[in-house]
Amino acid sequence: MPNDIVIAPSILSADFAKLGDEVRAIDRDGCDWVHLDVMDGHFVPNITFGPDVVAALRPHSDKVFDTHLMIAPCDPYLEAFAKAGSDIITVHAEAGPHLDRSLQHIRSLGKKAGVSLTPSTPESAIEYVLDKLDLVLVMTVNPGFGGQTFIPAQVEKVRAIRKMIGDRPIHLEVDGGVNVDTAGLVTAAGANALVAGSAVFKGGGYAENIAAIREAAIAGCAAR
Ligand code: DX5
Ligand code: ZN
Repeated sequence: MPNDIVIAPSILSADFAKLGDEVRAIDRDGCDWVHLDVMDGHFVPNITFGPDVVAALRPHSDKVFDTHLMIAPCDPYLEAFAKAGSDIITVHAEAGPHLDRSLQHIRSLGKKAGVSLTPSTPESAIEYVLDKLDLVLVMTVNPGFGGQTFIPAQVEKVRAIRKMIGDRPIHLEVDGGVNVDTAGLVTAAGANALVAGSAVFKGGGYAENIAAIREAAIAGCAAR
């Protein structure tokens, strides 16, 4: 079961004027995955980038491209994000009526399939699609922006989903407000993959920031 700690910096907090350099920097500085936040100004109140940007970034790192689609509908764009070089494609349970179909489609494209839940969506939303999942992403802020405050009530959801996952080979990822103070709370509850935007790209060295989050995450695991 994928229990190793994964640190996935979100380039939402990177300098958009030099994204290729930023991806190379986090790769060099010890990230495990590169988290790509795709927003459409419709499902979430912000707009970021589409598959062409993902494709342009692909040559800059060999690490896992963890694509988080905050778009509705998502189905018409899955193939484009797969072709762009995403390794994991995560859709929101709230983004469409046919989650099962979207997940099947992602796997049929040869990619790992993820589902994300906004803070108000209960864990029961994924109960009947567990066999089609490679990753569950629990949002610990309302999706749309970096730099928001972690919502502590989501820790219980992480714990409940860890129980649901059991020994299935599914990553449990947390996204939003993850920093050295919150990383241990979510790994103690069973998360193994941590997205961090502002906590990685804030001033100072990315290597130090990534290492500090990893250390806090590992410390949290000891409390499981
Ligand atoms: C929010 C995005 C997150 C965001 C996290 O909608 O999905 O990935 O970049 O940013 P921080 O870590 O700053 O909360
Ligand atoms: Zn994200």
